[in-house]
Amino acid sequence: MSNIYGVDIGTSNFKMCCKEKDQILNEKNMIAIANKTELLAFGDEAYEMYEKAPENIEVSYPVKFGVIADIENMQTLLLNFFNKINGDKKQPGNTDFYIAVPTDVTEVEKRAFYELVADSKVKAKNIFIVDKPVADAIGAGLDVTKSRGIMIVNIGAETTEISVLSLGGIVISKSVKIGGNKLDDVIISQIRKVYNLVIGSKTAESLKKELGSAIKGEEHFAPGFGRNILSGLPVSIDISSDVIYQAIVDPLHSIMDSIKVILERTPPELAADIIKNGIYVSGGTSSINSLEKYINQETNINVNIVENPSESVVRGLMGVVSNPDFAGVAYTPQDKTYD
Ligand SMILES: Nc1ncnc2c1ncn2[C@@H]1O[C@H](COP(=O)(O)OP(=O)(O)OP(=O)(O)O)[C@@H](O)[C@H]1O
Ligand SMILES: [Mg+2]
Repeated sequence: MSNIYGVDIGTSNFKMCCKEKDQILNEKNMIAIANKTELLAFGDEAYEMYEKAPENIEVSYPVKFGVIADIENMQTLLLNFFNKINGDKKQPGNTDFYIAVPTDVTEVEKRAFYELVADSKVKAKNIFIVDKPVADAIGAGLDVTKSRGIMIVNIGAETTEISVLSLGGIVISKSVKIGGNKLDDVIISQIRKVYNLVIGSKTAESLKKELGSAIKGEEHFAPGFGRNILSGLPVSIDISSDVIYQAIVDPLHSIMDSIKVILERTPPELAADIIKNGIYVSGGTSSINSLEKYINQETNINVNIVENPSESVVRGLMGVVSNPDFAGVAYTPQDKTYD
């Protein structure tokens, strides 16, 4: 019997599920190459080396803004993650693959996901595509097949995808190039401006998780390690949550504006369903503090933050594979025009 795998190839994290093992792999979508050709590390292990490696080691993300930018390295990663989830025991071949593909990208970019798997040494027998927002909603525990409007907002690392679904399909979808990485970037510049402190992206991310909030709360502090621009020396400074808020408020507003645009364009009957059931929010960045309250204040609509939000898309693929009711949401490039 063939085994079935699902993949959500994110900008920051690679998620893969395997039906037989009922298991999810979620690792940094990163590769470390030494001397231009030698695979040194992949996934979380490569991330450990990020911003710490000497010049002959190149540590990079092959996906940019949700689309595959570096096919060769992505191929290597796919195969290595596949071997890892299988404990290196299974020989490739006789496998089915379900790939979550973003909607608001070009046909060429969509096709690249299919070709990545088709050309890979994982030797897939059958390849199916599931639109990412559809998988996302299934992963959030929703029955997407009903004639009921669902709004799902996935705030990932470099993209926010806002979609309205009904009857297993996408009614409207819009993707904006703002996500958690943008928040990290604005935190880096704000901290440089306010404290004369240069920090790395890992420090920015951990300050975001600890101090970041979509609504201004009571001021609190956390240590930020970096280099003082004036003295040039490494220091630790207590960073204020107010400074982090000042930095991230603009990108969060931009995401909010796009959510409002989609709500305005949603046909009234579907909008009525959304008001009844609330907006669903997933993706790793939906874990930011007070996001639920912020979206609710701005829209007057209930907000449901999906559990374990970074894995909701891949969980949805698992749902498609195991629940025959959802079989109709998966398709092959031949079913739809991919020109
Ligand atoms: N507790 C948290 N608070 C704020 N942000 C968080 C938290 N946990 C994770 N994140 C952010 O979530 C992002 C990763 O989310 P996710 O795995 O959904 O992205 P991705 O699928 O790789 O990206 P994309 O969908 O844009 O291609 C990172 O930017 C990370 O910093
Ligand atoms: Mg994602």
